[in-house]
Amino acid sequence: HHHIVIMAGGIGSRFWPMSTPTYPKQFIDVMGVGKSLIQLTVDRFGGICPPENFWVVTSEAYKDIVRKQLPDIPEQHILTEPEARNTAPCIAYASWKIRQQDAEANIVVTPSDALVIDTEEFRRNIRQALKFTEHSDSIVTLGICPTRPETGYGYICAGEKLEESEIHRVDSFREKPNLETAQQYLDAGNYLWNAGIFVWNVNTITAALRTYAPQIAGVMDELAPSLYTEKEAEELKRLFPTCEKISIDYAVMEKAKSIYVLPADFGWSDLGSWGSLHTLLTPDERQNTKVGNDIRMFDCRNCIVHTQDEKQVVIEGLDGYIVAEKDGRLLICRLKNEQLIKEFAKS
Ligand code: GDD
Ligand code: MG
Repeated sequence: HHHIVIMAGGIGSRFWPMSTPTYPKQFIDVMGVGKSLIQLTVDRFGGICPPENFWVVTSEAYKDIVRKQLPDIPEQHILTEPEARNTAPCIAYASWKIRQQDAEANIVVTPSDALVIDTEEFRRNIRQALKFTEHSDSIVTLGICPTRPETGYGYICAGEKLEESEIHRVDSFREKPNLETAQQYLDAGNYLWNAGIFVWNVNTITAALRTYAPQIAGVMDELAPSLYTEKEAEELKRLFPTCEKISIDYAVMEKAKSIYVLPADFGWSDLGSWGSLHTLLTPDERQNTKVGNDIRMFDCRNCIVHTQDEKQVVIEGLDGYIVAEKDGRLLICRLKNEQLIKEFAKS
């Protein structure tokens, strides 16, 4: 009864120009390892369940990319949204869909764009969480030990540890706090970052959505009779865009009772921005990192350079910059201002 739901409808706007709305980062070989982030995500769940139990929720526009990159996942399990409404409707759609097929489904929901170093440890954690939610109506999150007052993540306040388990109760969940609050959480020592991976059985998540996101649950109930019929696409097109646009973190996690956290230590990185990639790649002696075939740097420090194909790039004298090019788009931006890239990419 194990199912893996991969959320892959984001546009990765902080990673422009590598990531664009027509071809976002989850489908890109960001690390230069021969596999895209979504392919690495699927590999990571190897042995947890067979490919027939994987589901990908994405935008209609990315369906062909997903089919091409993940040929083992059944086509009917690639769920396409007519419009991106953030992760709460994405998760609701997948949950209502899975429930009709398997009323006892035990589900892992995962982003498609994070990296994990220790795959074996990751699998051990996932199995442990699945075991817990098999017979318990709880939500299990995976918590990462924070290393900086990052404002782009959710924070989990870990409470008492359960007996004979590594799992803790969660006292509170706070999505994307401001810098001051994030710093307080970091100093407090008992907060963990939400890895964005959720483990629950299908009854738990549908009940939680009914309680905390009744509007979205209502839309799904209206859609339900059409699921697995020839009317599904048409009804989805009519109903899905009426869902409240909200992430699961704000809609459910901040409000739900009965949340648990499994502190995880498998080397995790959310590849959210150029800076996160920079800290992940192996730097040279001047703290520069690069992905590309022919990048030559002279007297540069703390830079990340990312190029496509065989392009030859020569850079001199830069300190603390992102230099990235793809498909006729070139970005040169100070690393410290990388949060602005989202805005530049729009203009
Ligand atoms: N199908 C679908 N539809 N997928 C979506 C949508 C959507 O509308 N919006 C986002 N996604 C996908 C993204 O592609 C990504 O894989 C995942 O859902 C999470 O979305 P993000 O937009 O990357 O979320 P975030 O990084 O701001 O925050 C979440 O992840 C953090 C860890 O990386 C939260 O869960 C935070 O609490 C968490 O710390
Ligand atoms: Mg993210």
